[in-house]
Amino acid sequence: MTAIIGRKELPGCQSTGDAGENERRKRMQINYNEQNRVFKIDTEHTSYCIGIVDEENFVGHIYYGRKLSDDNLVYLMRTAEPPFVPSKNNRDRNSFLDTFPMEYTGHGLGDFREGTLMVRTAGGHSGVSLSYISHRIYDGKEELAGLPATFGTADTCRTLELTCEDKVLGLQVILSYSIFADNDAIARSVRVVNGGKEALYLTKVLSACIDMDNEEYEMITLPGSWARERIIQTRPVLKGKQGVSSVRGESSHQEHPFMAWKRKTTTEEAGDIYAMNFVYSGNFMAQIEGDQFGSMRALMGIHPQDFCWKLEPGDAFQAPEVICVYSAEGIGGMSRTFHDLYRRHLIRGEYKDKKRPILINNWEATYFDFDTDKLLSIAREASALGIEMLVMDDGWFGCRNDDNSSLGDWQVNEAKLKGGLKYLVDEVNKLGMKFGIWLEPEMISPDSNLYREHPDWAFAIPGRTGSLSRNQYVLDLTRQEVRDCVYDMIASVLRSANIEYVKWDMNRQLSDMGSSGLPADRQGELFHRQVLAVYELQDRLTREFPHLLLENCSGGGARFDPGMLYYSPQIWCSDDTDAVERLSIQAGTAMVYPLSTMGAHVADCPNHTVGRNTPFETRGYVALAGTFGYELDVTKIPEADRAMIPAQTAMYHKYNDLVREGDYYRIAHYAENHYYDCYEVVAKDKSEALVTYVQVLNRPSHHSRRIRIPGLDLTAVYVIENAQDWPEIRQTEYRGDALQFAGINVPPLWGDFKGRLLHLVRK
Ligand code: DGJ
Repeated sequence: MTAIIGRKELPGCQSTGDAGENERRKRMQINYNEQNRVFKIDTEHTSYCIGIVDEENFVGHIYYGRKLSDDNLVYLMRTAEPPFVPSKNNRDRNSFLDTFPMEYTGHGLGDFREGTLMVRTAGGHSGVSLSYISHRIYDGKEELAGLPATFGTADTCRTLELTCEDKVLGLQVILSYSIFADNDAIARSVRVVNGGKEALYLTKVLSACIDMDNEEYEMITLPGSWARERIIQTRPVLKGKQGVSSVRGESSHQEHPFMAWKRKTTTEEAGDIYAMNFVYSGNFMAQIEGDQFGSMRALMGIHPQDFCWKLEPGDAFQAPEVICVYSAEGIGGMSRTFHDLYRRHLIRGEYKDKKRPILINNWEATYFDFDTDKLLSIAREASALGIEMLVMDDGWFGCRNDDNSSLGDWQVNEAKLKGGLKYLVDEVNKLGMKFGIWLEPEMISPDSNLYREHPDWAFAIPGRTGSLSRNQYVLDLTRQEVRDCVYDMIASVLRSANIEYVKWDMNRQLSDMGSSGLPADRQGELFHRQVLAVYELQDRLTREFPHLLLENCSGGGARFDPGMLYYSPQIWCSDDTDAVERLSIQAGTAMVYPLSTMGAHVADCPNHTVGRNTPFETRGYVALAGTFGYELDVTKIPEADRAMIPAQTAMYHKYNDLVREGDYYRIAHYAENHYYDCYEVVAKDKSEALVTYVQVLNRPSHHSRRIRIPGLDLTAVYVIENAQDWPEIRQTEYRGDALQFAGINVPPLWGDFKGRLLHLVRK
């Protein structure tokens, strides 16, 4: 599969410079100490050290953590302790390989820990061993062929490439490390080149490995389920293997391609924490293995299950990028590093730094039961209330009146949309609103004209009955003709009217992976090729329609990952629109992703997923921490709720720049304290902050609750600008240090699920 990126032409790819950039650039250094054979990668606050060891040139990991001035840390690799380096003592080569902290591992020759690379030869052998041969340090960062990745210019980025080889196999492995002038993350990736004369089979190519001592770390992951995505989970890092993975063909509801490990004493705002996040949307593994000596190995990459990539002589395989973060400023410091990196160096396009239109989506309003009149009556009412875009969800094409048919038949159902799509869009535009549409291009219904014409276009294993899920199959997009056909269908819909937004959905996991387009010894490439195909389609779409706002979605938030963020600045966070459930879902999501990326809507009550009734205001406050929109029939909700919408849309316009661009702080999480939730966004220049407080359950107490408000200018005075919204807080002026270290007392609210905003403005 060929590369299709060319990101430089897309708007929003240029890093934003500022006055301090030269200064920061000086702090972004990559140096090689030839005498010690040590590479030292320095970001503004962190150092990462790699050492070349022994006559065999093993590439060892030395250190990752707080920034250091010293680059002579070779002693940390314990090469002067038994079992010693193999050139001195080949008697214990296995033991050496099994304990040495590797930067990227081989396989089958003595390192018995889980490794990063496995290669099978034509002769059926699988040993691989990597030795350093050369390196390159350059300004900037190269694209990853066919894959989403962070980007930066020669001014904002610097890269180290270490080329290693296995002489026996004729294999080169290029390890790449990029750093940024304005961020502490390190972006790592791996390219494998077959420099030999025979085809090789790559059966495992992970993207990053960090070997270090296990200082009684705790691991944080974000498991979930449908409507319960990315719930924060913490557990000790023990001896043995612990990890998360997906073999579902997508990053998934169930697990998430993220893991962090922190000291037990690390809190929200202080202490060591390390993290890895995979810039990829398919099968993954993320694992920490605690070994016999109290060390640990953290790994991340494409899951090896069902993976086998044939590499012909001269061919290269590019593994996706892993973002590594270390912060000494606790979990919050890690989150803010990810947020800034993704806002500046991953998300692209016209809406990268722009306020998104407030949308109203008809899914929970009508499900499949809609027509032009119904949509227009929703649009008329919505536009009068300040809502800016109507999104027509599933059910507008083919004969789709439920979820049993028509995926693949991307032609407008004119029985529903009388007068056609253009008429509807024009009428919506006349109301001053934009129009958006739902698509699910990766799928095919057995009851569709497309399937009747091309039954072999669905993935299938010959001789087996295909497994349906939501009564649909997965299209084999690894075949060019299938990609072209789907693209032509959806592009012609988008060309036919003024459509300014697409919700790209994906409602089932991948199974039955067999393609009639590939030979037997390439069937193991299918999972990865399908992900590359989705990337290629989204790249094509955003190129042809550069003004389109693309929102990814996968049965809610099953494909909320940095890979998709490269194509769409926002992703539907979850099908669960209940404000209380959303507190946990959004807290977990915001552990890694900026609030600007989280699709969040105000929905009707009783909530369609959990049946809970929450106040309309609270639903608004919670949705404000995301893209903000509505998911209800505005013509049918209670009058009192409808009457609040103009003030809610005004609230969005007032605070969205701050929410989108500011620094996020978790203050309290009700999943831990069982009473209340509180988080804050502080402007980069600390001139203002917005605190969201949700009292989930009331308790019989007249006692106020103390909350500390971090991240402010300690020497400044702040005023509660919206004091009228919470008159029980009588004092309206506070010093920044008092807010941060002493806090304020917030009085109890009468009833459950009550929320308040506090807008602090520097005097
Ligand atoms: C799943 C999405 O998450 C929903 O918002 C909706 O678009 C449905 N699919 C439509 O089938």
